[in-house]
Amino acid sequence: MAEHALTSSPIQVTTLLVELLEHASLLPEAVRAIIERYGGTLVSPPEQARPLLTAQFGWPVPRVDDSRRAIRAALAIQAEGAALNPYRIQMPFRLALHTEELSLVPGEAPPSVTPAISTLIPLAATAPAGSIVITHDTYQQVATLFETTLLGQSDIPLYAVQSERPRASRVIRGVAGMETPMIDRETELATLQQTFQDAATSEQLRALLLIADAGVGKSRLLAEFNHWVEERPESVRFFKGRASSQIVQQPYALIRDLFAFRFDIRESDREIMARAKLEQGFRKFMGAEGTENAHFLGHLLGFDFSESPYLRGILRDTRQIRDRAFHYAKRFFEAITVGRRSAVQLMRTSGGQGDRPLVVIFLEDIHWADDGSLDLIEHLVQSCEASPILLVALSRPSLWQRRPEWGQNFPENQVLRLPLAPLPVTESQAMVRAVLRRLDKIPLPLEELIIQHSEGNPFHIEEIVKMLIEEGVIVTEREPWRVDLEQLSLIRVPTTLIGILQTRLDALPEAEYTLLQQAAVIGRVFWERALEHLSHEEQAAQTSIRQRLQQLQQREFIIERQGSAFGDTREFIFKYALFHDVTYNSVLPAQRQHYHAKVAKWLIEQGGERLDSWAGLIGEHFEQAGETALAATWYGQAGKYAQESYAPDAAIRHYQKALRFLPEGEEHTTRRLTLYEGLGDMLYRQVQYAEAAVAYRAMGEAAELAGDTLAKVRAWYSLSTIQRSLIEPEEAQRSAEQAIARAQAALELPDRAPYAERLRVELAHSLLVKGWALWSLGNAAEALRLGKEALALSSAENAQEVMANCLDFLGQIHMVGEQYSEAHSLMEQALKLFRRLDNRRMVCMMLCNMGVNDRFQGDYASSVEHIQKGLLLAQEIGERDIQLGVRQNLGSAKAGLGEYAAA
Ligand SMILES: Nc1ncnc2c1ncn2[C@@H]1O[C@H](COP(=O)(O)OP(=O)(O)O)[C@@H](O)[C@H]1O
Ligand SMILES: [Mg+2]
Repeated sequence: MAEHALTSSPIQVTTLLVELLEHASLLPEAVRAIIERYGGTLVSPPEQARPLLTAQFGWPVPRVDDSRRAIRAALAIQAEGAALNPYRIQMPFRLALHTEELSLVPGEAPPSVTPAISTLIPLAATAPAGSIVITHDTYQQVATLFETTLLGQSDIPLYAVQSERPRASRVIRGVAGMETPMIDRETELATLQQTFQDAATSEQLRALLLIADAGVGKSRLLAEFNHWVEERPESVRFFKGRASSQIVQQPYALIRDLFAFRFDIRESDREIMARAKLEQGFRKFMGAEGTENAHFLGHLLGFDFSESPYLRGILRDTRQIRDRAFHYAKRFFEAITVGRRSAVQLMRTSGGQGDRPLVVIFLEDIHWADDGSLDLIEHLVQSCEASPILLVALSRPSLWQRRPEWGQNFPENQVLRLPLAPLPVTESQAMVRAVLRRLDKIPLPLEELIIQHSEGNPFHIEEIVKMLIEEGVIVTEREPWRVDLEQLSLIRVPTTLIGILQTRLDALPEAEYTLLQQAAVIGRVFWERALEHLSHEEQAAQTSIRQRLQQLQQREFIIERQGSAFGDTREFIFKYALFHDVTYNSVLPAQRQHYHAKVAKWLIEQGGERLDSWAGLIGEHFEQAGETALAATWYGQAGKYAQESYAPDAAIRHYQKALRFLPEGEEHTTRRLTLYEGLGDMLYRQVQYAEAAVAYRAMGEAAELAGDTLAKVRAWYSLSTIQRSLIEPEEAQRSAEQAIARAQAALELPDRAPYAERLRVELAHSLLVKGWALWSLGNAAEALRLGKEALALSSAENAQEVMANCLDFLGQIHMVGEQYSEAHSLMEQALKLFRRLDNRRMVCMMLCNMGVNDRFQGDYASSVEHIQKGLLLAQEIGERDIQLGVRQNLGSAKAGLGEYAAA
């Protein structure tokens, strides 16, 4: 490995291309000086008609901030140009940047024409004079550091850089616009830092769960830690995600947030763009293999990859998609920590800073995370233990009320649970003094009042102070502040935090209060444009809304979020969930309904191609608006979406709600049957057989009412499958017969022609299901006959999935009947079909069954070969259940081969 790394190792290079326009008043010398100042290396560009300068950042010594310095150099050139050209008539240059990985022999320069230069020359030509254009690859390196805008709507994302973000542009926390200095928490911060270093030096995963109630200071501690990490010399790849109460119903929302952050995917991005960003992101770290992996994970996260060649054949097997997506997510995180391993060698030899890049994942407020996301996090922690990853998750203890098991199986020595306690009294005093440092002297009764009511909760301290300011106890008009002692003696601090917040709300000017109430109906996270939509009757609404939002921000009720789910509107969040609750509860019920309906409609207008992922939220708004019929529609959508992304819990919840709100009446029968069908399937997958049986019975009834023969057949054979799982083979047989009878009766009718094909396929399926039931009852001969009939019928229709299942069934019957060579050939055919359908789970099973058959036949060598292939595939797609079963069989086969030691 090491030798290889020395001959050629990929390093990351950011190339800056400067094109000087004819009337250039900006001298090439000035540009060169700037580039050198920022540590770039000038390289001679290829001959071009236009005068060009190119510089590379990233060699001879790679540094962590290469791309950042490249952009700073570009900004400096821009500033220089602007100074020479004060009237900004036409800027005399164009600037473009691209970041790429190059394989370099140490000590040698990159080739003078790299792919970047060929990309940049035409790109610069189209850029507006004076601007700085960067490609998506560069953007990904610097997105959090610079203000940028997305250019145009082309399928290749390009961005213009405006300015560097000031470090302090982060949310200001504190009171009256003054940041409260960090009080205490040194031990906890040190623990976080130590954990970071452990992960970096051991190159193994570390997870830290920071647990505390609201307002104790989890986010603040994480923010401080984040500062610290940003200044570290290690190369760090950040992933940040946050759950919110609004999206707890949205399957995989938290993980989606994580990847959206990393690859800058917005809800308002067109589907094609969102998919491209995800895929590019994966390929960057994983190479060609990244495509398939991105498609699976993306599909799970709700980016519609149903047209993907990797998924097309198995779309109905949502379980397989989920399992493989989980596995690929793991592979992605592994790849991202080894991707530049060889570059590290180079950095070490050239004396630069560097280590295997550490992936740092921050997850905030996971007590609101959806179940799917929690499962995936669990999977990652358990399966990536050997990769340098630091995961910090913030949660309230309530998470474990909902999911008592969550995190119990994390590898003991790699996971740390860090409870954060309220501040001790002396630290609370220190905090009060810090918050009130503009007072010359803090009267003792004031300090006591605050300490007594805040119980060491920093959030309470801040809120009480704000209330005291708004109530005129602390007068902040002039510095130094002063205390109105008379007011102080009169004030009654509400005994609960809710009371304090209510007092603060009541002190708001009418217009701000109304706006805040409207925002609360939208949710804890809300959007400026949605507010405009809610109050469109007002004149000049836009400007006044902007001003009011500004004021609410100053009063620290709300925070503007960086990046917005919808690209063209600013996104805000109630600073605290409790604020949101209190405000929401203050809205009059009738008003509330009215607003909810409007929000639902606004969301529908915004959702675009990815409306489905918002369907659950839209359903909720309609439910709150009292529009139950619409709620039913949207919950139905949400259920379907959750089903497709294999989030069975969410799907079940949504389907149940949809059914609850679906109006009575025959015209809704078809929808009712669809909902029951989805519900039945999801309950079945969750091993809730009894409930699933109820759902399929209800589906059957609805199908009878609707006169939908295909659905009747499906309902009965699905019920049969469930009854077999419930070990009720007689019932299973009867249900299968019901399915068969209905299909046959319908096929005999003369006017069934348009459905005949599909009916025959469903009939084949029903026959197969009956075959399984009879086999369970011990009637192998009849089972065999049915299996053959089903195979003939499905083959005539070329229904490959049913065919493959029939072949599998027949193979197993033959094997148990000791007809090994027939069994072999049947299984082989099944295998071929499952391969064609790209159903790897079944391919795996087939290989395994074939191995067992070989062993019965005494062909141990072939048995080992088949099973090993199956095992390899099972590992490749992350199929744990199969792996377990297969391993046992492999043991028996090897024992047969005489390799007792290996067994
Ligand atoms: N140790 C601390 N020193 C000073 N201010 C703090 C401290 N911890 C929290 N705060 C402030 O208290 C408020 C609530 O803290 P936050 O981290 O948001 O709580 P949580 O995330 O646990 O709900 C914030 O305004 C924060 O800046
Ligand atoms: Mg928080």
